[in-house]
Amino acid sequence: MADQKTAIEEKGLLRFLTCGSVDDGKSTLIGHLLFDCDEVSEDGLARLHAQSKSGGRAGDALDYSLLVDGLMAEREQGITIDVAYRYFSTPKRKFIVADTPGHEQYTRNMATGASNSDLAILLVDARKGLQIQTKRHSKIVSLMGIRHLVLAVNKMDLVDYDQTVFDTIASDYTDFAQKLGDCAVQAIPLSALNGDNISARSAAMDWYSGPTLRDHLEMVDITQDQKQSAFRLPVQLVNRPDASFRGYSGTVCAGSVSVGDAVRVGPTGELSRIASILTPDGEAKIAYNGDAVTVTLTDERDISRGNVLAAADDPPPVSDQFAAHIIWMHPKPLLPGRQLQLRLGAQSVNAAVTELKYVINYEDNSHNAGKVLGFNETGYCNLALDQPVVFDTFENNRDMGSFILVDKLSNETVGAGMIVFGLRRADNVHWQAMDVSKQARAALKGQKPCILWFTGLSGSGKSTVANILEKRLLARGCHTYLLDGDNVRHGLNRDLGFTDADRVENIRRIAEVSKLMVDAGLLVMVSFISPFRSERRQARQMVEDSEFVEVFVDTPLEICEARDVKGLYKKARAGEIKNFTGIDSPYEPPEHAEIHLHAGERTPEDLAEDIFRALEEKGIA
Ligand code: ADX
Repeated sequence: MADQKTAIEEKGLLRFLTCGSVDDGKSTLIGHLLFDCDEVSEDGLARLHAQSKSGGRAGDALDYSLLVDGLMAEREQGITIDVAYRYFSTPKRKFIVADTPGHEQYTRNMATGASNSDLAILLVDARKGLQIQTKRHSKIVSLMGIRHLVLAVNKMDLVDYDQTVFDTIASDYTDFAQKLGDCAVQAIPLSALNGDNISARSAAMDWYSGPTLRDHLEMVDITQDQKQSAFRLPVQLVNRPDASFRGYSGTVCAGSVSVGDAVRVGPTGELSRIASILTPDGEAKIAYNGDAVTVTLTDERDISRGNVLAAADDPPPVSDQFAAHIIWMHPKPLLPGRQLQLRLGAQSVNAAVTELKYVINYEDNSHNAGKVLGFNETGYCNLALDQPVVFDTFENNRDMGSFILVDKLSNETVGAGMIVFGLRRADNVHWQAMDVSKQARAALKGQKPCILWFTGLSGSGKSTVANILEKRLLARGCHTYLLDGDNVRHGLNRDLGFTDADRVENIRRIAEVSKLMVDAGLLVMVSFISPFRSERRQARQMVEDSEFVEVFVDTPLEICEARDVKGLYKKARAGEIKNFTGIDSPYEPPEHAEIHLHAGERTPEDLAEDIFRALEEKGIA
């Protein structure tokens, strides 16, 4: 009953996006569609005639792309909007078309447009046939839950409306699309410029018996697309105007709920019942998928933003690990092990890819092995989060099954993910309570445990200084340990080399080990190049603020290279060693190191003494 209303309402609306570049005729296609659907004002039409004459690319005819590109140009000058939505309607249906800016190499815009669309139009130039870009777009939109694909074979006028051209492209695409999973494909031959098969059947292509683009958009049935029917309300806001009222606001993203229904709160699992449902139009007895509501419960529960109210008998899973598809949208590749921020609805946690299982080959949908995920690539990964989140699989619920990944330093969105399933392996591993605490271990040793994190170029003097310092601390009666890059790489980390991805993993492991050593009550010295800010920051966040002291051994590259104790710079310059820090691999200096040693001109003994004094001041030594 509940879902029935949704189905009828939703049938009236189709959200779609177009994929393809300006050259493929994307703007002309949308422009022509808007024109045919009477969505162009008298003024707009007059302007279109004038502009087509003066600057159009369609000869004497109307250049429909001007209807769309005009706005695009404005947009490019103004504030960046990833996607613009255009609304139009025919007597049969309402439409929202997501118009993504032309620079198609930016998958991000396309993915944003796809994230709430039901159908994608993939534009192909009949003269060029299927391109890798079409396959990439198809894969991405199918991964993003779009089940209806239209292959718009455009510019048929330029191939003499030749049926063979269309048939070849359509059959190639059908073969390819079979591997995309559960997608329905409709191929349509058209000319966006002349209007063939846009909304009127083409006289020039009487061999084509399928629907026009407009017919298809009006008829396509999307009611079965979303599988989830159990109620979900992600809480956006806890509404508490005074002590007597506590409501939970958000948009129902699956199923429906009625006053009196039992609900479960995710992630705690607590039960309660719906006491009332408030909508902008007043109180309601029932709320449906898509409704923005505030609900109150019959019991006081500790619920905050990011929690989810769900059907009591079909609650969403909660996990801190899952398998997911990730579309990577940043020129710098995704490095497994690097910590990112994961945002799923209003939930925000730290997360890292723990395993990149494969990278998708867009050409034929096969799987390639990969250590990193490059710009615009899609991979299948395992992720680990630092806190459990409430989610659904993407297949069941696009809202609760998708997330974005944000770079923690730049705050940029770098990836989008779709959850395939939660990993159960975390379910049966629990924290074991231990009676002897870090404090007790430290007290016995009479010291404040901490990490002294030495960072700097190879040959900067990290290990030499750390070695002298350790002797000094030992003489003072401190319990210490020195973790050294070269040494650890002979054992624990002997499987790692010097690519960016391997260095991220190297430092991740060392951060974990040094955290355990702090827990054991030790003063841990960590002497690794540790070239990336992101991983040093991650290490810092693993312990208390006062337990992390970053020591920047700041020796200029020229001096390190002149010293060249191990002869490695010479080899690196000769091209015998690849990815050498400072030569062909980056070093990101610390911005806020607790101790900054200008180490080029001073003796290691002096430098160790400086650190020792700083540690005394901090009450560590
Ligand atoms: S890190 O970048 O991952 O932190 P780490 O400190 O473990 O590096 O190891 C650096 C040491 O490995 C250097 O001091 C040097 O002796 C050796 N080494 C061998 N190849 C390289 C390389 N390509 N880049 C930097 N150091 C290298």
